[in-house]
Amino acid sequence: MTADHSQHHSNLKNKEIVVAITGGIAAYKTAELVRELTKRGSNVHVVMTKNAMEFVTPLTFQTLSGNPVINEMFQLFSGSKIGHVTLSDIADHLVIVPATANIIGKIANGIADDFLTTMVMATTVPVLFVPSMNTKMWESRIVQGNIEKLEDLGFRFLEPAAGELACGTSGKGRLPEVEDIVETMEDVFTLKDLQDQKIMVTAGPTTEFIDPVRCITNRSSGKMGYALAKIARRRGAEVILITGQTYVKPPRIDIEVIRVTTAVEMRNAVMDRFRECSVIIKAAAVADFRCRTESCQKMKKTSDAIVSLELEKNPDIIAELGAVKEHRVLVGFAAETENLTKNAADKLKRKQLDLIVANDVSKADIGFGSDDNEVTIVETTGHVKQVPRMSKDEVASIILDSVKKCLKKKQRKEDWY
Ligand code: CTP
Repeated sequence: MTADHSQHHSNLKNKEIVVAITGGIAAYKTAELVRELTKRGSNVHVVMTKNAMEFVTPLTFQTLSGNPVINEMFQLFSGSKIGHVTLSDIADHLVIVPATANIIGKIANGIADDFLTTMVMATTVPVLFVPSMNTKMWESRIVQGNIEKLEDLGFRFLEPAAGELACGTSGKGRLPEVEDIVETMEDVFTLKDLQDQKIMVTAGPTTEFIDPVRCITNRSSGKMGYALAKIARRRGAEVILITGQTYVKPPRIDIEVIRVTTAVEMRNAVMDRFRECSVIIKAAAVADFRCRTESCQKMKKTSDAIVSLELEKNPDIIAELGAVKEHRVLVGFAAETENLTKNAADKLKRKQLDLIVANDVSKADIGFGSDDNEVTIVETTGHVKQVPRMSKDEVASIILDSVKKCLKKKQRKEDWY
């Protein structure tokens, strides 16, 4: 059974989240958001404006959230644990999704004529607006002026995505993906203990071409590296993600994603940018060899029963970094099938790393493609940390704790001299 990783490592767990829906066509997408939040362990309370009910029904949201939907100004909570306590007192976070130009305008101008606008005026909890509207409305000076005013007051906005809109036009105005909305919400409850750090993460496989249609690659999905990039950013770091080609979507919120194909391309991207980073995490599964000559034409079948490919060595990116890293923290991964800790410790020394994360790739149910991982972290001091099977998000967080320890140690050394 594969575990759902989103359940394991969420700061939204046990939080009281108010999801307010206003009257936009994207209102139907909010159902999926409510589902994802409850999956992450939040207790969701849905508020709907009168206009929202023209698009979607309270029954859907009551069923998904397990709580009564509030759609009237003077509605009392009945039969729920909340009793007479008002929602703004128990809420940890309020998200307005979709937020129409109308609701943004009302709130920016101090109008409080329904449950939602009254609640926003009365609440002290963080409020996130997720606008969705026609591109021209989004770009209008009236809407932008209202947003600026609300941002100055400390309200947060997640910008709409670009793409096809329900009104038949295309441009900025689409509701962002649910995953991006949830990731922005996770931020509110995450300690920014990696602020001031710039972290480079490499992820995924590299692909080496044999001819224009054939290639040599490996089974890496990139999920471990993507989890590291996502959690590092969530904890306040600036992140550069250099990724090989995989079927998994890389995280998108506030991460610079550089896509590469071959090991040489990955090496060039890494060497180009590592100087601006304080931490480099090499989670990529780099091909050790590439074809010595890549055929420009598709290779034709011949009568030969056996054909040989001539391979030559790829640059060892991490070893090259180890020699020039200076004060930077360098983290490697090791895929081993035997003598895990010893082989990893040898690799750590040989490649001048600060940390190595060893995977036992002989275990079929973890590692490649899985949402879970089980690793051993080895430090230069010889200290070994066993991380039992858990979600890749959680493993990422533990690896980043070790990175933080390394950064502190290096900082202390610098202070000493
Ligand atoms: N790596 C790299 N460049 C390469 C090969 C590997 O930067 N050409 C990095 C990987 O990203 C990983 C680490 O080196 O962080 C370990 O990879 P692995 O293939 O296990 O290391 P090797 O030294 O090639 O191990 P072995 O001798 O077991 O093949």
